[in-house]
Parts: sequence; C-alpha cells; structure tokens
Amino acid sequence: MQQSPTGPEAQGTEPQSTLYQRVGGIPYFKDLVERFYRFVEVDATLRPMYPEDLDPGKDNLAMFLVQLWGGPPYYSRDRGHPRLRMRHMPFAIGQAERDAWFQHMREAVLSTDAAEDDVALLLDYFDKAATFMINRE
Ligand code: HEM
Repeated sequence: MQQSPTGPEAQGTEPQSTLYQRVGGIPYFKDLVERFYRFVEVDATLRPMYPEDLDPGKDNLAMFLVQLWGGPPYYSRDRGHPRLRMRHMPFAIGQAERDAWFQHMREAVLSTDAAEDDVALLLDYFDKAATFMINRE
C-alpha cells in the first residue's frame, strides 16, 4: 500500500505493519499455497498423504497463514482452534516427510516477491513448525 509521505509513517518504516500487510494480504498467501501445492502434486512421498481433492486443504492452509501473520481470523472462524499438531496426527510424518514438505514450502516462498526480511521470517517459521509436526520415528 502506498503511504503518504506526510502521514504517521513518514519517520520510518511502519512500526505497526504486520507481515500479512507487507507481503500483500490474502492474495499473497493464496498464491504461495498454490505454488507449494504444485510441488506436492508431483511428490511421490507427499501426494499419497493428501486427499484426492486438494482444493479444501489449500484454502485451509492459506487462511491459517493469513491468520497467523496478522490477517483476519477466518481460519478459526471456519475451523476452530488450529491445534495443528493434533490435526496432523492421522498423517505419518517422519523426518523424510517433514523435509520434503519444508523443501517445497521453501521453494514456494523463495519464488514469491516477498522482501528479504519477510522471506527469512517465513522460512524460519516453516522450518520450526514442520519439525514440530513430526509424529513418527
Ligand atoms: C510448517 C508446518 C505445517 C503447517 C503450518 C501446516 C498447516 C496445515 C494446515 C493449516 C492444514 C489444514 C488443517 C485443517 O484441516 O484445518 C494442514 C493439513 C495437512 N497437512 Fe500440514 N502443515 C505443516 C506441516 C505438514 C507436514 C510436514 C506434512 C506432511 C509431510 C503435512 C501434511 C498435511 C496433510 C496431508 C494435510 C491434509 C490436507 C487436506 O486435508 O487437504 N503438513 N496442514
């Protein structure tokens, strides 16, 4: 969004801005998820874990990320408390699955035009969260 040079942000770099705002809001996360799923679709390890219809999952992931990074809480409105680790229990996630997932998300993030600092924030989060999702030896 264009900021007025005489507005409250004139002194510096929008201290109140959220990553959600900086990357461009909902369209950014929808696009990121599309990019990520393009890799999942052709991944022999991950594709079988996902349902035949990928669209509902795409939407859930996008809305979860929107909420997490400071956007509207549509995910919780529609899906309740995230409890992500619990939601992932039905899927056997070991180190290999975690690595494949993170690799694809990393490629997806890097292919977007988010600023360097925001890319770093996103990758750090996905790296840690993906490890947290491991639920099998
Ligand atoms: C940064 C780590 C991760 C995040 C933030 C994340 C986020 C999500 C979210 C928000 C959902 C939708 C939950 C719902 O039904 O509302 C989901 C579903 C799912 N996730 Fe993850 N996830 C992560 C890691 C992983 C990993 C490592 C795997 C497996 C390799 C995985 C596999 C799945 C599968 C198979 C689904 C079901 C998709 C569907 O029903 O269409 N996730 N994930």
